[in-house]
Amino acid sequence: MENIEKGKLISSGKAKSLYESSNPDYYFMHYRDDTSAFDGVKKESLEGKGSTNNKFNAFIMDFLEQKGVPTHFEKLISETESLVKKLEMIPVECVVRNIAAGSICKRLGVEEGIDLNPPTFEFFYKDDELHDPMINEFHIKSFGWASEEQVKQMQEKTFQVNDLLKELFAEAGMILVDYKLEFGSFNGDLLLGDEFTPDGCRVWDSETREKLDKDRFRQDLGDVVESYQIIAKKLGIE
Ligand code: TMP
Ligand code: ASP
Repeated sequence: MENIEKGKLISSGKAKSLYESSNPDYYFMHYRDDTSAFDGVKKESLEGKGSTNNKFNAFIMDFLEQKGVPTHFEKLISETESLVKKLEMIPVECVVRNIAAGSICKRLGVEEGIDLNPPTFEFFYKDDELHDPMINEFHIKSFGWASEEQVKQMQEKTFQVNDLLKELFAEAGMILVDYKLEFGSFNGDLLLGDEFTPDGCRVWDSETREKLDKDRFRQDLGDVVESYQIIAKKLGIE
């Protein structure tokens, strides 16, 4: 691949910024230290989170690619930047839950920690002002956010990722409780986009059930970046 130069800022989200590049098919994705929860209501800068998540995401995306899940990830550029394919994003979040935690506990009045067998799936509409409301596949089709085929593929791929990552985390002594994925299209193909990092999943220690993910930030448990690094170390990410 030719040498790609960083271009102008395209958009800045809660934790990452996207920059144009000299190749029209690619973006620079910059992982910042900014950390947010509750749809941006709680915010803090946590030193080292950007570089930790950049490397974490690269490892997971590489792993998924090798196992046959196509992603937007191309390569690491620097400590806090990655090169990614320019996707047309679907404004929908795909969540799989293996264990009840977070919003499902509130919504359905169930206790945290219950096994969900089979794992369950939820779609959310990506809109902070509306607090990412839960939607179903009919909403997605009626509002034209994605086609029927894309809806089917998002579900299939999100469950495929669950089979792969549940095992990866289990072998490293952790439980993958739940996670969120986002997809987009590139030349007509549906690719996994955005990120897979401890910001967008729940991970517990298998023995102690200690929370190691962004719930440490949401619930003021402390050692947020340190815990992300513990997950990374257990997975063999240097
Ligand atoms: P929830 O329990 O808040 O619905 O979240 C389920 C999982 O998905 C959890 O690991 C956090 C992740 N998630 C995000 O990272 N961003 C989001 O906007 C949503 C709705 C979920
Ligand atoms: N919705 C996500 C969370 O609650 C991200 C955010 O609000 O910034 O963690």
